[in-house]
Amino acid sequence: MSPAERIEVLRREIRSHDHRYFVLDDPVISDYDYDMLVNELRDLESAHPDLITPDSPTQRVGGSPSSSAFPVVRHPVPMLSIGNTYNDEEIRDFDRRIRDLLGPQREYAYAVELKIDGVAVSLRYEDGALALGATRGDGEQGDDITANLRTIRSIPLRIAEERPLLNNIEVRGEVYLPHDGFRELNALRAEREEPLFANPRNATAGSLKLRDPRIVAERPLRVFLYTLRFEDEAGALAARADLDSHFERLHWLAGQGFPTNREARRFAAIGEVIDFCHAWGERRSSLSYDIDGMVIKVASIGRPGRLGATMTSPLGAIAS
Ligand code: IVH
Repeated sequence: MSPAERIEVLRREIRSHDHRYFVLDDPVISDYDYDMLVNELRDLESAHPDLITPDSPTQRVGGSPSSSAFPVVRHPVPMLSIGNTYNDEEIRDFDRRIRDLLGPQREYAYAVELKIDGVAVSLRYEDGALALGATRGDGEQGDDITANLRTIRSIPLRIAEERPLLNNIEVRGEVYLPHDGFRELNALRAEREEPLFANPRNATAGSLKLRDPRIVAERPLRVFLYTLRFEDEAGALAARADLDSHFERLHWLAGQGFPTNREARRFAAIGEVIDFCHAWGERRSSLSYDIDGMVIKVASIGRPGRLGATMTSPLGAIAS
């Protein structure tokens, strides 16, 4: 096997172990064996620097701290916020609006998800490799924090699907800090007599704004992805018949190695949606991360945004 071939084999293996460890929480080799693979890859890459590619698992933490501001990036599709509801009647009003929008004959279903209390991000993959990671910012434009997002081990640097099937894609989701990671981080800060973070969301936001990716890499940040957009050659929205519903998209994302939240459920009746939201109201303290409610989305009518939006929020989704 040539060094180039061995490098490719090692990268594939390491990617798969990263996925098992950081996404599935189900490692199949020891830390020692894992380190052996990474060491072998590092050695081969330093002997053949021309074979280093940005999507190699050795290249997560790159560059040196930057003192300048993050470059600003414009979101091709704005990152909207979402309307809120404060009682069951408002959820029923939302359902009536959806029925009016779709027309009386149309069948539809809802996806109900946890509303993760973190920081919204957008990840852009070009030719299958992570090319850009950005914050939401004001919704129209955000900060280019690619170097920081690359350090989050559950974010794939390369996705599984191969060309020619593959278009450039944008995935969006929420970066967060689980409770145990938050406690460890604050304990460390207390030891160093640094100011403590008030809550996991502040710690996440503060971490993503750091100018030194090496420090970000030490923060146990996690992510859940929940939206997916395919682009055609011209960068316009592309339809994928096999990915027409929200759950098909979530399933595809999971198959590509992205962390998706397991608690999302599909319901046809609004009463079931309301019951599920109430049930999570009782159960939220059992989670190992913070949520700030639930998100209810129309799940079955093709691409997101199909129902239109106001200036600030999509019509097809609401928070509770
Ligand atoms: S869907 C158009 N799903 O909540 C917005 N958002 O105001 C559609 N969030 O900043 C977003 N968990 O980052 C969606 N499961 C989830 C979410 C979620 C958290 C955040 C999102 C956005 C805010 C919506």
